[in-house]
Amino acid sequence: MELKHFIDTQDFSKQELLDLIELIRMIKKADKQGATPRLLEGASLAMLFEEPSTRTRISFEVGMAELGGHALYLKPGEIHLGVRESLGDTAQVISRYVDVIMARTLKHETMEGLAKYATVPLINGLTDYNHPTQVVCDVLTMIEHAPAGKKLEDFNVTFVGDATNVLSSLMLICTRLGMNFTHAAPKKYQAPKQWMDWAHENCKVSGGTVRVTDDPIEAVKNADFIYTDLWWWVGQEAEIPERQAAFMPRYQVNKDLMSHAPAHCKFMHCLPASRGVEATDEVMDSAQSVIFDQAENRLHTEKGLLVWLVYPRLHRPSSELKAVHKGQIENFLESKF
Ligand code: CP
Repeated sequence: MELKHFIDTQDFSKQELLDLIELIRMIKKADKQGATPRLLEGASLAMLFEEPSTRTRISFEVGMAELGGHALYLKPGEIHLGVRESLGDTAQVISRYVDVIMARTLKHETMEGLAKYATVPLINGLTDYNHPTQVVCDVLTMIEHAPAGKKLEDFNVTFVGDATNVLSSLMLICTRLGMNFTHAAPKKYQAPKQWMDWAHENCKVSGGTVRVTDDPIEAVKNADFIYTDLWWWVGQEAEIPERQAAFMPRYQVNKDLMSHAPAHCKFMHCLPASRGVEATDEVMDSAQSVIFDQAENRLHTEKGLLVWLVYPRLHRPSSELKAVHKGQIENFLESKF
């Protein structure tokens, strides 16, 4: 069976991504009826973290348990991850113990190093370049909150703020699926050329559009969804005054900016948020906000992803075969002890 990792949505076609989202929707529907199928009975997930997490850590662990499997949380510093042991050795060893690995790494190169050597599926739970599980969840959330009469290819998505790993992933998945994507940010914080080039390539195939502007008011004029993310992250503390000056108040998602968007426009944020910085409480807690639906959808997304990657690879022995092995082991034990 071909080994499939989930490192970047760019590795998958539009149809494959839509199939994945359809699977997630089926699993969510089952969950809402209290009937989640235990499709990963007996399977194990190793969760490697180089950074703290709330949503990713909890949703993967709970998701795996609900599917009948088991998850191990390996917190930052707990295992050799390129320290005292090569990344390749670590990836190959872990692959001998578990059925799937999810990793959050500081550097995307670390994720690629793990992918090169892992012999079980590897899921990217965020790097400095991208956050693919988050944006699959975000597209699901957009579909659930689609404006009346609009299909996915007609969605207008505007990201206001820094060119973060979430921005790169959101821009790439939206353009791959044929949506219209706008990034509004001060020039210094706009998406780098390489990301824009990939997004333009996606649009050529999908029929979507992508553009970048420094005018947030114009950018939200036709938006069905306004999305923002943190203006600074761990390690960027020294840049806070400069970033604050560049973004505030023009790029803050507040009631005034929302008033320039259509009334049906929804507000999205991957969380964690710095309330009162990139978005105000008034917006985050408004009727237009879908941030907690988004957060919930991480759980359904992780379950869908795990099933998609792991279920086809699991051995599902017959009860007869299980009985044969059980009998042989019991006979051996009786003969010896
Ligand atoms: N959105 C997200 O990945 O959240 P965590 O950092 O809490 O996992």
